Amino acid sequence: MNPTPLSQSGTLDPTDWDELRAIGHAMIDDMLDYLRDVRDRPAWQRPSEEARAALMAPTPREGKPLSEVYDEFKRSILPYPTGNIHPRFWGWVMGNGTPVGMLAELLGGAMNCHVSGYDQSAVLVEKQVIGWLAELMDFPVNTSGLLVSGGTVANLIGLTVARNHALGQGVRSVGVNNSRAMVYASSQTHGWLDRSCDLLGFGKNSIRYVNVDEHHRIRIDLLHEQIDRDLASGLKPICIVGNAGTVSCGATDDLHALSDLAEQYDIWFHIDGAFGALAKLSPKYRGLADGLERADSVAFDLHKWGYMQYELGVVLVKDGELQSETFGFAPSYLDKFSGGIAPNPTEFASKGIQLSRGFRSLKAWLQLSTYGTDAIGAAIEENIDQIEHLRKLVARTPHLEQVGPSAMNVVCFRYVPENMAASGVNSFNAELLVRIQESGLAVPSNARIGDDFALRVAHTNHRSTREDFDILIESATRTAELMLLESDSHDPPSRQD
Ligand SMILES: Cc1ncc(COP(=O)(O)O)c(C=O)c1O
Repeated sequence: MNPTPLSQSGTLDPTDWDELRAIGHAMIDDMLDYLRDVRDRPAWQRPSEEARAALMAPTPREGKPLSEVYDEFKRSILPYPTGNIHPRFWGWVMGNGTPVGMLAELLGGAMNCHVSGYDQSAVLVEKQVIGWLAELMDFPVNTSGLLVSGGTVANLIGLTVARNHALGQGVRSVGVNNSRAMVYASSQTHGWLDRSCDLLGFGKNSIRYVNVDEHHRIRIDLLHEQIDRDLASGLKPICIVGNAGTVSCGATDDLHALSDLAEQYDIWFHIDGAFGALAKLSPKYRGLADGLERADSVAFDLHKWGYMQYELGVVLVKDGELQSETFGFAPSYLDKFSGGIAPNPTEFASKGIQLSRGFRSLKAWLQLSTYGTDAIGAAIEENIDQIEHLRKLVARTPHLEQVGPSAMNVVCFRYVPENMAASGVNSFNAELLVRIQESGLAVPSNARIGDDFALRVAHTNHRSTREDFDILIESATRTAELMLLESDSHDPPSRQD
């Protein structure tokens, strides 16, 4: 291949396709091996000093052969990922993708479609995928939807449609000035809501975070009272947000009760089902997301429990016209024509925020077509069963205790040394978490449940086995015991005795 990427004809295509083909084939082989052997590597490791230095190189004004650049990728980039593809990564809520998803990225990259609209296969694929997803979520056949970067943007889009439903499309011109709009959600709602109300101009003070019960489900009685109080004082309730899978404990609100309330007051009902909505794919556990089908809009992530490659979020909206009116735009440079490529160049761009959009739907299409939705549902089912296994392990292991409720695919737990003050237990578990991560053996993350710091396992990993959870618990116990031995010899004051 040319020493510089520019070929003699001046394009960025190679002059020698065969040389590029050879490197391309090697890349595919290497990456398939990389995925096959993922279990043999650490779940996470810190980027080396050499890698950090290599990735601070000056701007490459002149190129070099792809083979050299690829070697550098293998040296400085490939060994240091987040780790979420590893079988013992259960931190935050990260999915791990599939080899088929990786190949889909390659195919989509070759086509490199611009999917704002236009008469092309990518539009048909996205419509088909939205149709499949609507069916899986028990939404009506003519449901509108959009594939986006992730749950945050999917939720933002749902809330924006809710805003315009309540305030009218005039809000697009005059803004939300003095609308006195209020949004309702449980105290366990993910931070997307704060960010969305901030961006939409309502401000975070427009959110009523309602307390939850012992299962971390929104208190319907308190919500009801709050809406009544707000109406009596001239405020305008515009949206009830339900959770299907809260971030800390995996709780799902009583979605039927929320829907009843939304109907009673004619308020938009949006659900953040970032991961929990996917429980609908499991025949055994679909009841965990029961009532989701009654929402006006729902957001969820295929890059979490759909096991698809990043980035892939979904928003479904029952009232497609309202969604298109909320985001519609028609500048002269994007005119519609009765023939040619552009009968509707902003068809998808008018359902969300992006104009230029990539071919995200191909990942979903290829993966769902290849594995079938039953297999995805079976993997989800296995994850939930494995979490039950972990709950039992925690319950029967001395010094470990579950923290807060545990639903669906999430468990929080901590190690409680004898005679240690509560504040000490929190910092002890924070240190324990870091040590487990740094060991490379497993990656849980953390949660704060009330005043308690906990290690948190959120399981959306199709590569984990039950033995992986045995390893986590052994490692947590062994590490905690070692820390106690160290503190006995170096730092006795951190313990009460
Ligand atoms: C419950 C919940 N909602 C929303 C989000 C935001 O999704 P994303 O990170 O894809 O933007 C997350 C992410 O973990 C989540 O767990």
